[in-house]
Amino acid sequence: MSFRLQPAPPARPNRCQLFGPGSNTKLFAKMAASAADVINLDLEDSVAPSDKDSARDNVIDAINTVDWGTKTLSVRINGLDTPYWYRDVVDVLEQAGDRLDQIMIPKVGCAADVYAVDALVTAIERAKGRTKPISFEVIIESAAGIAHVEEIAASSPRMAAMSLGAADFAASMGMQTTGIGGTQDNYYMLHGDTRHYSDPWHWAQTAIVAACRTHGVLPVDGPFGDFSDDEGYRAQARRSATLGMVGKWAIHPKQIALANEVFTPSEAAVAEAREILAAMEQAKARGEGATVYNGRLVDIASIKQAEVIVRQSEMIAS
Ligand code: COA
Ligand code: MG
Repeated sequence: MSFRLQPAPPARPNRCQLFGPGSNTKLFAKMAASAADVINLDLEDSVAPSDKDSARDNVIDAINTVDWGTKTLSVRINGLDTPYWYRDVVDVLEQAGDRLDQIMIPKVGCAADVYAVDALVTAIERAKGRTKPISFEVIIESAAGIAHVEEIAASSPRMAAMSLGAADFAASMGMQTTGIGGTQDNYYMLHGDTRHYSDPWHWAQTAIVAACRTHGVLPVDGPFGDFSDDEGYRAQARRSATLGMVGKWAIHPKQIALANEVFTPSEAAVAEAREILAAMEQAKARGEGATVYNGRLVDIASIKQAEVIVRQSEMIAS
């Protein structure tokens, strides 16, 4: 038990984060017109080293000229192990206007990585008189990142979201996989002759969710590489939603509707949650802390579970 109250994460929809390479300017208007809640303009791994400078210029121009509506607008900078990242931060923050909401820091391995970017961002905000503070999202995609996940979640008041990056994570962990997320052929239990596939991403996801919920940060599931596999994406997203994540990346526009579908509480789920709240109201009026709803126990904890669903649904609707 703790007397500390769990801080609320940012109250913004984050069901789908759509990525596009900063080098592919023809995608920007399509991304802006999409149904994704968050846009991630990428300067990192989808941009070839020879294109890093021009991609940065493209992204600055796109922030300043494209109508991004009410979306959360984010730029993924290069990792702190590259020669590019400081110029990403300096050029983007000095030259892009206030429309930019967020910076995504990839391959974060410890709280000091976030501190370094925070120091630079804070100095530029002061020097340039930027009035809207930039928020941070980070990607946990290394052994160090998952080992230090809690200090990373607590690393800065700018922290808004944290994603699991399955591909880099698998590589860093030495996992024998080539797929980006989803079911892995060799990860199964045998029962008799039947293979039961297990979820190799599960423990990292729950570690991220726990760290995020402790520190008021949105936990997000990262990419699913096979964009021809809708059911695979749905299955991965449903597991993530069940574990407490609020959204998932899209690396192709096909995946946006899938993410929005899974991470928007269904009408049936919201109706059930409201019925549970009503049943508990009636129980309270009778002086009871527990009652029966559709043949099963509901109690004061059920109120909190139901409120998670109703709150999420109301926040998305607004
Ligand atoms: N955002 C918005 N629109 C996109 C898009 C994206 N990320 N990716 C593709 N589209 C558009 C295409 O321009 C095309 O539009 P059109 O119908 O007007 O011609 C349409 O969606 C269908 O695209 P498709 O031909 O199926 O894909 P592609 O071969 O053009 O591109 C990828 C495939 C994977 C290269 C591309 O989707 C991509 O760059 N994704 C993002 C990669 C990324 O950012 N990775 C970093 C995070 S892991
Ligand atoms: Mg990565």
